[in-house]
Amino acid sequence: MRFFKAAILAGTVAVFAATSAFAADVKIGFIVKQPEEPWFQDEWKFADVAAKEKGFTLVKIGAEDGEKVQSAIDNLGAQGAQGFIICTPDVKLGPGIIAKAAANDLKMMTVDDRLVNADGSPIEDVPHMGISATKIGEAVGQSIVDEIKKRGWDMKEVGAIRVSYDQLPTAVDRVEGALSVLKANGFPEANIFDAPQAKTDTEAALNASTVVLNKNAGIKKWVAVGLNDEAVLGAVRATETVGIAPDSMIGVGIGGADSAINEFKKPTATGFFGTVIISPKRHGYETALNMYEWVANGKEPEKLTLTAGQIALRDTYEAVRKDLGIE
Ligand code: GLA
Repeated sequence: MRFFKAAILAGTVAVFAATSAFAADVKIGFIVKQPEEPWFQDEWKFADVAAKEKGFTLVKIGAEDGEKVQSAIDNLGAQGAQGFIICTPDVKLGPGIIAKAAANDLKMMTVDDRLVNADGSPIEDVPHMGISATKIGEAVGQSIVDEIKKRGWDMKEVGAIRVSYDQLPTAVDRVEGALSVLKANGFPEANIFDAPQAKTDTEAALNASTVVLNKNAGIKKWVAVGLNDEAVLGAVRATETVGIAPDSMIGVGIGGADSAINEFKKPTATGFFGTVIISPKRHGYETALNMYEWVANGKEPEKLTLTAGQIALRDTYEAVRKDLGIE
């Protein structure tokens, strides 16, 4: 009996040791298109939490273009990683990224930006976590409409800057979601102006928005939508440079990371009126955990997970962040 007990105990220890040794061998890459953007830093931060919790190694790589993506994947393969999560700089790289991952025997999933086929349709085989883009866009639109009404503006006199990045489907869904609510509430289509940004950052949005404002100098009240906080901040900065007062601008972004928070912390309100806070915790922690489960336990992630967001203004953002567990 004693021998039997000891054997069971030894077996348990052996199994336990084997699992933990395996966890230590697990290496997972997390590639993002814009490492300087607070949203992506937050994703990494929460992915690190998962790595610590499960005891695997997380390799964080910034890849701003297709070439860097290719070498990042080769690099992960050479390091003996088993899988990676990626937010690609260009969704059209999809088939190439899949081929590279396969050549390196790496499992992959995408976050934020879903890969597309040559014909522009989403690649449905690769597990993906993104935001519910249309719905979140609609929340942006609703908060702009509410504020227009509160300020008693005549919609015919208001211009809307559509900071656009139309090569990215989630960006189109977000801005179109917002504009659909504006239009449904009587906002004139003719007052919506496209400001195509070359890159999804504030500087590119500022440049694109300045062109729109200069071309429409007769319009003195503005609203702005875009795919993220940086896009809307660019539009807000543009209104400031052409001398439009903060209370004549309603910009509502998407994200809720430091780009937005720093704006809310300014002593006086700017034209950046609000943001829909989305969850870097879900996108970082959960994707990393999903990949770990896939590598270590053969449990494949859901093919598609769409996360929600919550509108936040200057005076409510702290409570919303707490509520979402992202403080
Ligand atoms: C895209 C945007 C990011 C962020 C994520 C959220 O990747 O470029 O700024 O909004 O979506 O999913």
